Amino acid sequence: MTYTTILTETRRRVGIVQLNRPQAMNAFNLAMLGEVFDALEVFDKDENVGAIIVTGNEKAFAAGADIKEMADQTYVQMLANEHVKVWDRIRGIRKPVIAAVSGWALGGGSEFVLSCDMVVASESAKFGQPEITIGIIPGAGGTQRLARLVGKHLAMEMVINNRTLTAQEAQQFGLVNRIVPVEGYLDAAVAFAEEIASRAPIAVRMAKDAVNAAFETTLTEGLAVEKRNFYPLFATEDQKEGMQAFIEKRKPNWKGK
Ligand code: CAA
Repeated sequence: MTYTTILTETRRRVGIVQLNRPQAMNAFNLAMLGEVFDALEVFDKDENVGAIIVTGNEKAFAAGADIKEMADQTYVQMLANEHVKVWDRIRGIRKPVIAAVSGWALGGGSEFVLSCDMVVASESAKFGQPEITIGIIPGAGGTQRLARLVGKHLAMEMVINNRTLTAQEAQQFGLVNRIVPVEGYLDAAVAFAEEIASRAPIAVRMAKDAVNAAFETTLTEGLAVEKRNFYPLFATEDQKEGMQAFIEKRKPNWKGK
C-alpha cells in the first residue's frame, strides 16, 4: 500500500508510523485512519519488528478526528462508515505499541494515545478531550479509557469542561511512562522501544495480552488469563534459553520460538 498521510520506517527492530498531515495538526481523516492501521498490521506481522512507535511531529501528535471531514456528516453516515470503530483496531495489534507524543494530543488523538500500550511524552505534550467545545463527546474510547486511567472526577472535568493535562500532569496520573526533552523526543522513544523490542517476543505478546485483560475482566478472570498465558511459555525455546542464560551468567539469545 502506498501511503499519502503517514510515513513509515524501521530502525533496527522498531517500526515507526509517523502521522503526516501537518497542515491539519495531524487530524485523523478516514484516509489517515485506514493507513495507520494498515501500517500497524504490517509491522505486527513483520518478524523483524519487536515494537511499534506511533508519532506525529513536535507541534502535534494529533488534534483529533478531522472536524472538517465530519462537519456535514449525518447520524446515518457516521453510523454507516463506522467512523470511530477504526480506533478499536489498535486492540488487535499483538506487539507493544508506544505513542511518542509531542505537542497536542486532543480528542481522537488523545484517544489513540490511550489505546497504546506505553507513552513517551515530550515536555511540550498536552492531552485533552475538547469534543464538548464542538458539541459532541469523545467517541473513540475517551470516556471509558480516561476514566479507568485517571479516575472519575478528573475524567469528568476533562470530558465535560475541556481540562487539558500537561506532560507532567499526565505522568502524575499514569497516562505517560516517561517525559523527555522536545528536541530528540523521537530518538528517546526509539531507544525505549528498542529495549522492549530486544525482549523475548512470545513472552512480550503474552504479557501484553495479560495486562490488557486487567482492564476488561474481573480479578478472577484476569488471573485465569494470566495462568493461560504463563504455562504455555514453558513450551517455548526462549524460556529454556532465558533460564539457561541466567544460570550460565550470560545474555540470552532470543529466537521468538
Ligand atoms: N480537524 C480538522 N482540522 C484541524 C483540526 C481538526 N481536529 N485541528 C486543527 N486543524 C487545522 C485547523 O483548522 C487549521 O487549518 P487552517 O490553517 O486551514 O485553518 C490548522 O489545522 C492549524 O490549526 P490552528 O490554526 O487551529 O492551530 P493552533 O496552534 O492555533 O491551535 C489546536 C491548535 C489547539 C490543536 C486547535 O487547532 C484545535 O483546537 N483543534 C481542534 C481540536 C479538537 O476539537 N479535537 C477534537 C476533534 S473531534 C474528535 O476527535 C472526536 C472523537 O472522539 C473521535
